[in-house]
Amino acid sequence: MAGSWSSVDDLRLRARRRLPRFAFDFIDGGAGNEASLGRNVEAYRQATLVPRILRNVDGDLATETTLFGRTWRVPFGVAPIGMAGIAWPGIDGWLAAGAERAGAPYTASTPATATLEELRTAAPTVSWFQLYVGREQRIVDDLLHRAEAAGYETLLVTADVPKPGKRLRDIRNSFMLPLRPSVRMALDVAIHPGWSWAIARSGSPRFCNLERYTKNSSASSLAEFMASQSSGRLDWALFDHIRKTWKGRIALKGVLSPEDAVEAARRGADAVVVSNHGGRQLASAPATLHALGAVRDALGPDFTVLLDGGIRSGEDILKGLLAGADFVLMGRPFVFAVGAYGQEGAERVFELLRAELVNAMGQIGLSDIADRGAFTDCLCLG
Ligand SMILES: Cc1cc2nc3c(=O)[nH]c(=O)nc-3n(C[C@H](O)[C@H](O)[C@H](O)COP(=O)(O)O)c2cc1C
Repeated sequence: MAGSWSSVDDLRLRARRRLPRFAFDFIDGGAGNEASLGRNVEAYRQATLVPRILRNVDGDLATETTLFGRTWRVPFGVAPIGMAGIAWPGIDGWLAAGAERAGAPYTASTPATATLEELRTAAPTVSWFQLYVGREQRIVDDLLHRAEAAGYETLLVTADVPKPGKRLRDIRNSFMLPLRPSVRMALDVAIHPGWSWAIARSGSPRFCNLERYTKNSSASSLAEFMASQSSGRLDWALFDHIRKTWKGRIALKGVLSPEDAVEAARRGADAVVVSNHGGRQLASAPATLHALGAVRDALGPDFTVLLDGGIRSGEDILKGLLAGADFVLMGRPFVFAVGAYGQEGAERVFELLRAELVNAMGQIGLSDIADRGAFTDCLCLG
């Protein structure tokens, strides 16, 4: 058991054994031929770090990082993950609580499998809310109202889902919600009794934030409702409306072009998240680590830039920060940890990543992550 805790890659392998294939593939997969998913990860493998030596990095090193007016214990957090409950029931609340304990931000997703109110309670000081702009404006406005009433101050507006991503693994697995078991799926479920038992006890995962907006809340009508709500109508005018409505901070998520980043800043975004949705939307999208530089150059050194996509280790976190991100987010690594070890996974994965980050900092001679500006020359993107 201890062996799987050696790395996120090992957690992924254990999660792959414990989850039915359709569930694992939903989490692990990407759009089309998965080139952008692969590029995200490969960009970190290709990037190298040149150590600086004789710097006395004895003992624990400082990872505290300031973002959005507060100090976080670590410079990384949990990206929004919709339908995470397919990996394991209870995952949203466990990760929210894990983040609260770890002093890391947790992002509650619009299509989460727990309500935004429950997740705020689980992570009262660290949670952010992620908004999808669906077809009906009254629902968007109500979600914003609920998020504010629940105490959220930071909103991530996701901009990179103008159309649903075409995910071939989901198509091949006939994965849809609610689960409509085919013979293959039934066999798959039968050989994963731990997962099946957990789902049998808690029921099929649900879009908990959205149930109240449909009269008929059976699973099938909810899934149909979700599909009907997906829309590509988000544009800059609507972004302006959200900016006017939301009193707190806004980070625009899904930025890859420097021009879009500058436009977001001009229209009052407090931050951008350089992201390609974990390679789940456009197979031809660039690696986010490579897109970051131009965005940072366009926005200048003082604008807040977050980065996600392909980060799998402490060394990757360090590379993202040295490449110019103020903070990084991860999606799949947290789901793999829970898929592998359930609640214990949510409790331990933050420490695993922090320990790896501290080790990587020590290896290059950096004692305090706040001093990384003097170490940017150590990074070579390859
Ligand atoms: C299973 C899954 C569900 C996701 N759901 C959402 C979502 O609801 N909202 C959103 O903005 N991004 C969503 N994302 C994208 C993540 O927020 C994040 O951008 C991405 O996972 C980062 O890449 P990584 O998984 O390689 O760390 C999802 C990603 C995954 C893997």
